[in-house]
Amino acid sequence: MTGHYPNTRMRRTRASNWSRALHRESQLQPTDLIWPLFVTEGSGVEEPIGTLPGVSRWSVDGIAARAKEAAELGIPVVALFPNTPPEKRNDDGAEAHNPDNLMCRAIKAIKDACGDDVGVLTDVALDPYTSHGQDGLLDEHGYVTNDDTVAVLVDQAINQAEAGADIIAPSDMMDGRIHAIRMALEMGNHPNVQIMSYAAKYASAFYGPFRDAVGSGGLLKGDKKSYQMDPANSDEALREVELDIAEGADSVMVKPGLAYLDIIYRVKKAFGIPVFAYQVSGEYAMIEAAEAAGIGDRDALLMEKLTAFKRAGCSGVLTYHAPVAARILNG
Ligand code: PBG
Repeated sequence: MTGHYPNTRMRRTRASNWSRALHRESQLQPTDLIWPLFVTEGSGVEEPIGTLPGVSRWSVDGIAARAKEAAELGIPVVALFPNTPPEKRNDDGAEAHNPDNLMCRAIKAIKDACGDDVGVLTDVALDPYTSHGQDGLLDEHGYVTNDDTVAVLVDQAINQAEAGADIIAPSDMMDGRIHAIRMALEMGNHPNVQIMSYAAKYASAFYGPFRDAVGSGGLLKGDKKSYQMDPANSDEALREVELDIAEGADSVMVKPGLAYLDIIYRVKKAFGIPVFAYQVSGEYAMIEAAEAAGIGDRDALLMEKLTAFKRAGCSGVLTYHAPVAARILNG
């Protein structure tokens, strides 16, 4: 009987466990994960974050313990975000370049505890330090200035590098900041400090729980649309990435993650540079909410989404679920 049945059966390679394993095209590993952590003042402090169930702010000692946990789980990098006390926030975000700020103390504690085993990625932007919650300095009309902001971001980045940061990750979306930070790192004798640029960062509704976590949400007036990208655009994302590569970025990020898989795919195809996705706070919260509402299995939803980032072309993913995913992967 030929002609009646297919001689190519796509189901043949799907028929058994071993065969599915053999034919799997993308494989997520713990080494693909970057774990974002929120730092707060004090010692022995753990503050659960209401809008991010399962995620807490930790004081510096707890942050060092989380970094050790990352190393044990095979997670190579942690990303740090400070919850600056309100009295240290002002119009120009001066606390960002205090060499003894929360961020710098956390960096040092991790490096003391873990040395070379865990990389420390630090966010560069002013929103955790400004009294208005914007990522930069405001002019008299409330517009976020570009070049004046970049000068402050450079100081912030150098401050982090001096404290021992391994990867500087500017999330502010100012023009020209990658070049300015790269030059300052070279001049400041930090040639091996990497830059992972938040190159295509969208003005997204998925950042809400993060703003609660760093305490900037209640302060923010207006939005960030004059610097973060319009979710409708993708050619523009390629231009952003191209510029950041030319300015000296070692890797680039697309943020948020799941709604922007097409951007990840296009960036990887066009430039072949390491691309990372940020599965942001709202995405995390939605997975947790789905589990809580009985809509889906948290672990299965999570692993499917993380695998999608690998399939789209990512080298890795920033996710608050990093320890959960690593535990699943480690069996
Ligand atoms: C701020 C910054 C934000 C995030 C990372 N860095 C928020 C924002 O741009 O308002 C969001 C991360 C998340 O939602 O998990 N520069």
